[in-house]
Amino acid sequence: MVKVAILGAGAISGIHIAAYKQIDNCEIVAVADVDGEKAAARVKEFGLSCRVHASIGKLAADPGVEMVSVCLPPLLHAPAAVELAAAGKHVLVEKPMAMSLREIDEMNAAADAAGILLGVISQNRYKTDIQRLKGVLDSGLLGRVLSVRVDSLWWRGACYYDLKWRGRWESEGGGPTLNHAIHQVDGLVYLMGRLPARVVSVMANLAHANSEIEDISHSILTYEDNAVGLLSCSVVHHGENKLYEFQCEKGAISLPFRIDASLSLPNGFPKDNAELVEKATAVYDGLPALPEEGHVVQLRNMVDAVEKGEPLLLNGKAARQPVELVTALYKSAFSGSAVDLPISVDDAEYGLAGRVARARKYHEKTLDIDSFPPAPITL
Ligand SMILES: NC(=O)c1ccc[n+]([C@@H]2O[C@H](COP(=O)([O-])OP(=O)(O)OC[C@H]3O[C@@H](n4cnc5c(N)ncnc54)[C@H](O)[C@@H]3O)[C@@H](O)[C@H]2O)c1
Repeated sequence: MVKVAILGAGAISGIHIAAYKQIDNCEIVAVADVDGEKAAARVKEFGLSCRVHASIGKLAADPGVEMVSVCLPPLLHAPAAVELAAAGKHVLVEKPMAMSLREIDEMNAAADAAGILLGVISQNRYKTDIQRLKGVLDSGLLGRVLSVRVDSLWWRGACYYDLKWRGRWESEGGGPTLNHAIHQVDGLVYLMGRLPARVVSVMANLAHANSEIEDISHSILTYEDNAVGLLSCSVVHHGENKLYEFQCEKGAISLPFRIDASLSLPNGFPKDNAELVEKATAVYDGLPALPEEGHVVQLRNMVDAVEKGEPLLLNGKAARQPVELVTALYKSAFSGSAVDLPISVDDAEYGLAGRVARARKYHEKTLDIDSFPPAPITL
């Protein structure tokens, strides 16, 4: 029975607690939050009987805790992971893993030095449609990817950025490019199996006056094999539209699900390749539905990794890649030029200070609140 704690009793913590409650071989033994009352309220809400701690240090010093779900604001992911690792706790950290590559490298180094497991949440990878899409791409039926388009178009009201850690480069690290689209950026890296070689990005803040960070970005990606990509990240788009579209040599596959394939007529105009569409659709439909999806998949995997040594689905080294891509996008947007990857440790953008120094502060943030009244969140 793995003894688990939740660090940070805010909006996402309920998803972790509910998921752990579905997993037989773990037990929630502590919830911690700097706001002890908030932690106690979560304990009561979920009918837990466990310890409540009011600081990271007290949780780290709790000898009865083996593994911690870090559900803190992004600026605290690295310091918390490093402190918990030093105390011998296994760490599962919420997305984004951290705001900068420097912090991520420190987290991985701390985990390696302490011999603990470091996992990172990217729950949308573990959904049936993504796994099926990956299966079709990896089958090779459609040929090499020529062009990829990813849309991560969300909407958040102006007051969303009133929360004190949001809306500043220093504490949120960035806007939707880092914090919302990280799900789709991770999906892009996972599905393509590699990072682009060069990026160009344009960013703006169009609708969030109490925030110094971007609320929209459009980026162009170029891969080493000349494949190209378009990535759009936004919190100003009404509705919530997410798109993955892979245009390959012989056919195309998208989510929301669609497969197309064209053959050439003698004059170069297209005719449908119904046979290929049927074959690729059969591969997609033939892949089994996951028995469970999202957070619970990763939390169960982490518990099994701690208890039985199972390999982590997403460890801190693999989770570095999407943040590297996002780092290049910020560098491009604020330098006004194309940026080549990888980002080296000597690069000014390797640490957050470089981004903070160079990023455009779109507005001055003047209002900070500690928390919102309870309301549902969408993942
Ligand atoms: N995977 C997803 O889909 C998803 C969705 C929402 C949020 N998140 C991520 O989860 C993390 C937390 O987001 P949230 O929306 O729950 O934020 P939140 O502000 O609602 O909760 C954060 C909690 O951390 C606590 N806290 C702050 N400083 C602390 C400290 N020093 N010690 C202990 N507790 C402290 C706060 O009191 C608060 O209760 C972020 O990284 C966010 O990006 C992930």
